Amino acid sequence: MAEELTEYKGPATMEKITSLAKRRGFVFQSSEIYGGQNGAWDYGPMGIELKNRIAANWWKAMTQLHDEIVGLDAAILMHPRTWEASGHVENFTDPLVDCKKCKTRFRADMIPDENLANKTCPECGGELTDTRKFNLMFRTHIGPTEDNAGLIYLRPETAQGIYVNYKNIIQSNRMKIPFGIAQIGKAFRNEIVTKNFIFRTCEFEQMEMQYFVKPGTDVEWFNEWKKRRWAYYEKLGVKMDHLRWHQHGPDELAHYAKDAYDIQYLFPMGWRELEGVHNRTNYDLTRHTEYSGKDLQYIDQDNNNDRYIPFIIETSAGLTRTLLMLICDAYDEEKVADKGDADDWRTVLRFHPVVAPVTAAILPLMKKDGLAELAQDIRNELKEDFATDYDQAGAIGRRYRRQDEAGTPFCVTVDYQSKEDGTVTLRYRDSMEQIRVPRAELTEKIRQEIKQYKRKS
Ligand code: GAP
Repeated sequence: MAEELTEYKGPATMEKITSLAKRRGFVFQSSEIYGGQNGAWDYGPMGIELKNRIAANWWKAMTQLHDEIVGLDAAILMHPRTWEASGHVENFTDPLVDCKKCKTRFRADMIPDENLANKTCPECGGELTDTRKFNLMFRTHIGPTEDNAGLIYLRPETAQGIYVNYKNIIQSNRMKIPFGIAQIGKAFRNEIVTKNFIFRTCEFEQMEMQYFVKPGTDVEWFNEWKKRRWAYYEKLGVKMDHLRWHQHGPDELAHYAKDAYDIQYLFPMGWRELEGVHNRTNYDLTRHTEYSGKDLQYIDQDNNNDRYIPFIIETSAGLTRTLLMLICDAYDEEKVADKGDADDWRTVLRFHPVVAPVTAAILPLMKKDGLAELAQDIRNELKEDFATDYDQAGAIGRRYRRQDEAGTPFCVTVDYQSKEDGTVTLRYRDSMEQIRVPRAELTEKIRQEIKQYKRKS
């Protein structure tokens, strides 16, 4: 087995990623004109396309490709008892310390042990307060008065919306164990530390799947889902030496988990959690039974009407965190000439074509002589099947670079020969290779290339 990487050695830095994301319309700071809102980000024209495609890819992998997994879109606002039952009101806390001198606030588990032991600030050496618990849930009120009767939380995970609907879904869709319910949606956490761009934010999106299994089969299913989620990233063309497993130690395990593994990714700032696979046992459904008074047992009609509370294996990935991971993973700088100027290098995002925000850019070599009209016509044809862009501004080399930096896998160039023989140039982002393809075969050719895509570097 290859030795595990200890540090990130690629060309990306978080500064470069943040700046490219803004320049190309992937991610903007929230409310930037007012100085920005900490912990919140806006997804621009390229960002929303990328996010939608990641979500669609995950949805397909988790629902369409599994006969026994169905989807759900539950409300963000849930009955407040949900969060008492789930244990979040009591346990969903971070340990917090403040520096009395410079007023910086830290998560106690994120500062060096000696600072915690000596109660000294890692920034200025000032005195730290005692550690206190801080609940990460956002609280607000529903209705016109701000009293406890209207207290409501923004959900800190999408999972609970699935648990409270599990009986509805069994009944409406005749689900039989083992089965799963998948959901993508917003979650909110009052995070104390939100650095590293969109890595940890107060408002984010999760892609979660809860798999309901018979008690006693949970360990087997847990291992199976670990395998499947690993294979998912492999299929997406992620650099596999940048992924590793991390098993939660007793001090890291969430209050609901019997066993938990994170898939960590080697970001420019180091190894960090990307997704969690958790064995949540029957904790959540047992607690909801207790708090709601409803019988949440599963009745196994194929086995003498055996009754039991299922165990749950959860796969929980951050959608916005996956987006950051995919930009970091795709980011490359490549020397393509030797003229001794800035044009020698290109920045390229090597996205898998299934997630690339734009699949094909159509570029007329010249605006004149009917080439622009022909290119527009080809674009109109391609956009029925693919996300397309059209660019006629500037030298063709510059336009290729712009598309490389946005991660567009295919460029279609329309030139004088196109007018004569009906062929166009298909240019590949990764290899920069160009081939001529008859216009009539273009859609099928691109479709095949997407299907066969294998990342080379
Ligand atoms: N339902 C289980 C659960 O929420 P988690 O480990 O707290 O587990 C799962 O979160 C995933 O959600 C993480 O692996 C991460 O990708 C994403 N995530 C969690 N907190 C986040 C935050 N503040 N900002 C962005 N993504 C976050």
